[in-house]
Amino acid sequence: MYKESSNVVVKHLVNRLRDVRTASNEFRMTIEEISRIIAAEALCDFETVSQNINTWQGSLDVQMIEVQKLVLVPILRAGEPMLTGILKTLPYARSGFLAMKRDEETSLSKLFYENIPNLEGRTVLLLDPMVATGGSLIDGIDFLKGKNPKRIISLNVLGSPEGIKKVQEAHPDVDIYIAQIDERLDENNYIRPGLGDAGDRAFNTND
Ligand code: PRP
Ligand code: URA
Repeated sequence: MYKESSNVVVKHLVNRLRDVRTASNEFRMTIEEISRIIAAEALCDFETVSQNINTWQGSLDVQMIEVQKLVLVPILRAGEPMLTGILKTLPYARSGFLAMKRDEETSLSKLFYENIPNLEGRTVLLLDPMVATGGSLIDGIDFLKGKNPKRIISLNVLGSPEGIKKVQEAHPDVDIYIAQIDERLDENNYIRPGLGDAGDRAFNTND
């Protein structure tokens, strides 16, 4: 299943990303903010655990998110601000890393580095702002499935209809929570209207 956010705050923030006046620092912070909102949507039914805490009126039994059951995995480099944002909400979540790069000519992704903790019995939140052809996400999911996670949830900011369809066909068991699905993929495999190259926008490497 995929769920595109219907939250007007999310749409507002996505449109700030599209604006070329949004420079790298604000771009990263906006990605962080969007990621925290869509992570909250994706985790609304996540496992909780009972804890006893001391409050101003004494002890209280409460339910807290079972962060031990969660692993955050950004696809670098553009996924890095998504991780930073979600770690502000869930600072003790485990993190793993995939570094992938799309070849500019072929649009095929290549994995350059991975460092993934034990995923058995755990849910992965896979973080990549852009789903263009869908190739990077499909390859990332393929890789993570080899490590036997309980479940993979994909969090994304912008996608093309073509890319989302491809990911769903390849991995129907992976739920996708995305801020915005745009109109189409262009002849250079960029999302339109899109926001350009998310990694370049985030890390000021546009020229
Ligand atoms: C971008 C983006 C995705 C990928 C999407 O990363 O962050 O990972 O392209 O394209 P796809 O759906 O066609 O695979 P890129 O490879 O440019 O690397 P970067 O994050 O270092 O900029
Ligand atoms: N990667 C991006 O950052 N943007 C696109 O439109 C396509 C791939």
